[in-house]
Amino acid sequence: MDSHVLDTLIARYEAEEGRLLGILSEIQEQEGYIPHDLLLMLSEKLGIRLSRLYSLVTFYSFFSLQPIGEHVITVCMGTACHVKGAEAVLAALEQHLGIEAGATQDGKFSVTTKDNQFTVTIARCFGACSIAPVLSVDGNLFGYATPENLPAILAGYGWREHAD
Ligand code: FES
Repeated sequence: MDSHVLDTLIARYEAEEGRLLGILSEIQEQEGYIPHDLLLMLSEKLGIRLSRLYSLVTFYSFFSLQPIGEHVITVCMGTACHVKGAEAVLAALEQHLGIEAGATQDGKFSVTTKDNQFTVTIARCFGACSIAPVLSVDGNLFGYATPENLPAILAGYGWREHAD
């Protein structure tokens, strides 16, 4: 195989991946996430294995397999934030939002509340370690987060405490 043939081969695969990413981006934009049913349909229509589509979707963090809530909360679980109590902040957040305890711990997938108001996800460092622990809501950073000051932060985004 010479260099020219190899270039052709590379271009063919680049084109396929680019095409797939374009289609997946359109789905994400129109649906707000990538529903399983649409991945299945896409797999059948293009003759591409479903596992390949899943590996693409899970590789790129801008794709989501879950519906995304109106507000996205990202909790930093990097070393500095972890040392300063990020785990307690995350646990309190899950409790306030009615998310199953520990559901966001592995950080691979985001978790969205039943009312679709909030999506919680995890980051590894915002580069703001001096104000750890840190979380962001819709891209706005909040430093020195604690379980106690969480309700005030959430209230700024429409959250109200429910009396159980
Ligand atoms: S570790 Fe959390 S901002 Fe750096």
